[in-house]
Amino acid sequence: MVITINIITFEKLDLNLHMELMKKWLNDKDVQHFYHGNDSEFNENQIKTKYKCRENGEDSVFGMIINYEENHIGYIQYYEITDDIKMFFGLNENEGFYHAFDVFIGEKEYWNRGIGSEIVRSMLFFIFNSIKSESVFIDPQCWNKRAINCYKKCGFSPVKVLKENELHEGEYIDNLLMRIDKKYFLQIT
Ligand SMILES: CC(C)(COP(=O)(O)OP(=O)(O)OC[C@H]1O[C@@H](n2cnc3c(N)ncnc32)[C@H](O)[C@@H]1OP(=O)(O)O)[C@@H](O)C(=O)NCCC(=O)NCCS
Repeated sequence: MVITINIITFEKLDLNLHMELMKKWLNDKDVQHFYHGNDSEFNENQIKTKYKCRENGEDSVFGMIINYEENHIGYIQYYEITDDIKMFFGLNENEGFYHAFDVFIGEKEYWNRGIGSEIVRSMLFFIFNSIKSESVFIDPQCWNKRAINCYKKCGFSPVKVLKENELHEGEYIDNLLMRIDKKYFLQIT
């Protein structure tokens, strides 16, 4: 599956094709610092264990490689927000059909050039139009100001701080829960 929206293409993760890229990006200390912490190491087996099931959404998470100008530049994954997650976010479990995503640009020379914002807008377009989700959530670390600004530029608003939500480099850190509703996204695009 390949989805092209404006200048961004999302290509279904396929570890037969993308293992070397994933290994490079997931082991890059700078990328790690902003994604899952730079105290981890990923060999091929660990990548297969964690990401193989995301090729087809077998664990309900769908992984995709991001292409920009025909270059593979990063990884994005999206998933439906389950009732458990809704309760954790303080939402009513019967409320709405919602999604979330996680993203990193693994090729660092593409950071700070507005490309992340294009990726986020393209993912929102895909989730709202193809999957028909009503709202999308994201939860960057509170200190990740670049990511937060990128999401704000795309229309996300802060909902609340999730205190000591994530174990990151040996410390429990706060995340900022952010949300955008389809109605608002359609107004601003
Ligand atoms: C987060 C990420 C996807 C954003 O993509 P990007 O292309 O770098 O972001 P953009 O250039 O579109 O937007 C970033 C905005 O933050 C601003 N910014 C950059 N560094 C900043 C900082 N240290 N403090 C505050 N704002 C900052 C930029 O100026 C820009 O805003 P502007 O367009 O109004 O000037 C990308 O940087 C990335 O993959 N980072 C590493 C992994 C990561 O953090 N993933 C997100 C986990 S939630």
